[in-house]
Amino acid sequence: MSNNVIIRKYQPKDAQECSALMQNHFRNYATNLSEIARKRIIEARTTEYVRSISEDRIIVVAELKNKIVGMGALKGNEIRHMYVNQTFQKKDIGSTILNFLEEEARNLGLSSIMVNSVFYATGFYLKNGFKIIQKTQIDRHGSIIDAVLLEKQLK
Ligand SMILES: CC(C)(COP(=O)(O)OP(=O)(O)OC[C@H]1O[C@@H](n2cnc3c(N)ncnc32)[C@H](O)[C@@H]1OP(=O)(O)O)[C@@H](O)C(=O)NCCC(=O)NCCS
Repeated sequence: MSNNVIIRKYQPKDAQECSALMQNHFRNYATNLSEIARKRIIEARTTEYVRSISEDRIIVVAELKNKIVGMGALKGNEIRHMYVNQTFQKKDIGSTILNFLEEEARNLGLSSIMVNSVFYATGFYLKNGFKIIQKTQIDRHGSIIDAVLLEKQLK
């Protein structure tokens, strides 16, 4: 990963950029989801939404030259909101965010973490030591999305 990328915990000033990162993903890339699901998720993932979820989960961001280029979160023992800006994908930023979150999970005394991954990101979690448990479905803002439940034991 580039030496200039800083991985750090979320700060309130990041809310707008995190919202934009999520919305951009669903606007431009999550083309396997229905139009209605994408529209609902984009409308829900506002700056205010990011502010509210920052209360009940640990959010981590990747910052490059004062711009947020990636994010991820740990809610209980569940990995959520893993997004890396398209331009910066496959440069180890996602894995570094995940490692940071895993360390947070260990510090909380958790022995394992899980993720409900969309199909097209499953390979990323497998590369990072997760094992597939089962196919599943998740509810995101009222839309039911096919997913894969994966788990990783923390050493
Ligand atoms: C999934 C995502 C967060 C990974 O971040 P990233 O910075 O690109 O990942 P890394 O560079 O750390 O990749 C680590 C390894 O996983 C692989 N990988 C990354 N994304 C992958 C994907 N979507 N499918 C399969 N393998 C993937 C990389 O090739 C790399 O393998 P290598 O070590 O053999 O080179 C990022 O691609 C992304 O934001 N995708 C769109 C949003 C998304 O799907 N989020 C997950 C929601 S559950």
